[in-house]
Amino acid sequence: KKVVLAYSGGLDTSIILRWLQDTYRCEVVTFTADLGQGEDLEPARKKAEMLGVKEIFVEDLREEFVRDFVFPMFRANTLYEGTYLLGTSIARPLIAQRQIEIAEMTGADAVCHGATGKGNDQVRFELSYYALKPDIKIIAPWREWNLSSRTALLEYAEKNQIPIAKDKRGEAPFSVDANLLHASSEGKVLEDPWAEPEDYIWSRTLSPEEASDIPAYVEIGFEKGDAVSIDGEKLSPATILTRLNQLGHDHGIGRLDMVENRFVGMKNRGLYETPGGTILHVAHRAIESVTLDRGMTHLKDELMPRYATLIYNGFWFSPERQMLQAAIDYSQQDVTGRVRLKLYKGNTIVVGRDSEKSLYSADWVTFEESAVADYDHKDAAGFIKLNALRLRLKKMLQG
Ligand code: ARG
Ligand code: SIN
Repeated sequence: KKVVLAYSGGLDTSIILRWLQDTYRCEVVTFTADLGQGEDLEPARKKAEMLGVKEIFVEDLREEFVRDFVFPMFRANTLYEGTYLLGTSIARPLIAQRQIEIAEMTGADAVCHGATGKGNDQVRFELSYYALKPDIKIIAPWREWNLSSRTALLEYAEKNQIPIAKDKRGEAPFSVDANLLHASSEGKVLEDPWAEPEDYIWSRTLSPEEASDIPAYVEIGFEKGDAVSIDGEKLSPATILTRLNQLGHDHGIGRLDMVENRFVGMKNRGLYETPGGTILHVAHRAIESVTLDRGMTHLKDELMPRYATLIYNGFWFSPERQMLQAAIDYSQQDVTGRVRLKLYKGNTIVVGRDSEKSLYSADWVTFEESAVADYDHKDAAGFIKLNALRLRLKKMLQG
């Protein structure tokens, strides 16, 4: 009887809105979130009003996005398949969570999203919906309707007086998803993994060639694993990411061209720009390098790919993700201090790290005579000899 639609205000979700009203004869509530995609959201509100929506939610979720989703993920140095910083994957659970909360507030019994039937996003949205509200009804128009061609969609829009922006009449050359963490592009002209993308595809970064010849230095402060300041100035999570995005943009940092494995089974070529995230990732590893014990560091590195896959596959609200998060968060107790970086033509170069909680001790590591350290070089002989025992036995007994 009532459905909460994740509504961007674009052509596709506007068609979905009208299609829901037609097909299900139900009341539609729209929810539009500012996640830092860099678009004005007032037009989305106007459009929803025009399409007869009575309950319209437009919300700025940027701080919540960075504080409760991006930062916890970055504590694990998370990368999917070695490179992808999960910019789209990490936004889906937040959108889904707000949709369910709005459904509860407005007495809606269903939720609806605009993801296709071939991708990861449908899985992420729907696993989150079910985890938060087991009896929720889910409508996925792309899996239900027969508006499969662009022509059919445009005809439907015209027939239903849905305004079509001039640049939307033609086929969009590829699909984009953007938020404060990243912009991603895939599909259509990008489907040939041998073809280098043309420069107009990139929206968040200068190319390294265009970037400044003068390096920039930046200092990022951390407290318990989260970035809290830039150049000594305390800033909110979303402000930090916004500032780092600007720096990353100017210095051509964070471009990625990859072929990844989708959860539903096929390989997909994606282009990602994660300027601030790339800087943060490097900085976080650097502050951990001096504050985190080796055992925790290595165990985190082993768990990380599992954690990344959980997020990629849509299991943010799963018990095992929460279990890993508890371990990751525990490890961050002393990950406090500052990191100095040099940004130059696509590179994020660590040039300094400093912490009151540092485990790094020049007295212990130095090759020079040290008054403090009670390290006996002779201990190393036994240490090596016992470690070598099985290697020697193998060679002696099996050749
Ligand atoms: N392949 C990425 C992921 O699964 C991005 C998906 C959304 N991007 C897009 N351009 N539609 O996380
Ligand atoms: C979509 O299918 O809507 C976008 C791509 C994806 O989710 O992987």
